[in-house]
Parts: sequence; structure tokens; C-alpha cells
Amino acid sequence: MKTILSSAAMIIALSGTAFAEGDATKGEKDFKKCKSCHAIVDDAGEVIFKGGKTGPNLYGVVGRQAGTVEGFKYGNSIVDAGAAGLVWDADNLATYIKDPKGFLKETTGDSKAKSKMTFKWGKPENIIAYLATFSAEMPAEGEAAEAESATTN
Ligand code: HEC
Repeated sequence: MKTILSSAAMIIALSGTAFAEGDATKGEKDFKKCKSCHAIVDDAGEVIFKGGKTGPNLYGVVGRQAGTVEGFKYGNSIVDAGAAGLVWDADNLATYIKDPKGFLKETTGDSKAKSKMTFKWGKPENIIAYLATFSAEMPAEGEAAEAESATTN
């Protein structure tokens, strides 16, 4: 298995283009699939999308270390993945949302990895574009383009 850090760095490098695939306006509608368990609440406590508390607040999730919303009781596998360097970006979020448990198995290298998110959604691109609108830490266009030309893909 590739080290988590090197694959994360590569994915971050590619995320500039990946966001362009999704439609944030459609993603806002699609977020209804997630709201039974997830809300979007900004740092000032302003509710952007009303939702449940079974899952963590997804405000600013793009660019955030996995498993780090304060006060939320995550499962061990996602916390381990975050501690090992997993930072959410368009690419790894898509893989995660399509199959959270499978993603955590792959990322942690632990065939017994578990996810507390029991939901899977096969077309997450628009939702990710929507979630990215609440993230300050998107790579600047120039940086993304530079990093891309440096990778062989
Ligand atoms: C049935 C409840 C449920 C639904 C529906 C659900 N989730 Fe989750 N989600 C969770 C739980 C619980 C976790 C915490 C996972 C863990 O601890 O292993 C989570 C974690 C996440 C994380 C990781 C967040 C972090 O802080 O690291 C993301 C991203 C996420 N969900 C996105 C989504 C999206 C997008 C949707 C809609 C397509 C969705 N979820 C639908 C319950 C849900």
C-alpha cells in the first residue's frame, strides 16, 4: 500500500480539477440525502443546512483532517486515518461517500476497519462541490495546476 501521506498529497494536488466536475447548486438539493444525519453549521453557530446529529457537522469538511469535529464521537478507524494524515478533498471524499467502510479498510490497511456511517451514495460529486463552498482551504488555482503538471497520471 502507498503511504497515506503521499497519496493524500497527490489527491490534494488533483482536487482543483475534481471540484469542477460537481455542480454545487445541484449538490445543495442532493444534500437532503445526508441531512438526516449531518447538519452544516458555521463557526459562529449559524445553521446553513438544518440536519441531524448522528454524523458530524460537515461545515468546512473539505480541507479538514478526517475525524476531528470537536465533541463528535467518531469510530476508531476514521480517527486513526485522520491521525495518520488523512485530509478530506474532492477525490477521497468521493471514494469515502460511495463506500465509507471500504474506504477506511483501504486507507488504514486494516481489513477489520469499521465506519459509523452506514449510508452509501453513488453520485457524490455535486454534494462535494456544494460542501467545498464552505471551505476556505481549497488549493489556489495556480498551485493546483502546478502540482498537476508535476504528477504523472
Ligand atoms: C445514517 C446516517 C448518515 C447519513 C445518511 C450520512 N452520514 Fe456521513 N457520517 C455518519 C456518521 C455516523 C459519520 C461518522 C463516521 C465514523 O465515525 O466512522 C459520518 C461521517 C461522514 C464524513 C466524515 C466527516 C469527518 O469529520 O471526518 C463525511 C465527509 C460524511 N459523513 C459525508 C456524508 C454525506 C455527503 C452524506 C450524504 C450523501 C452522508 N454523510 C450521509 C452518518 C451518516
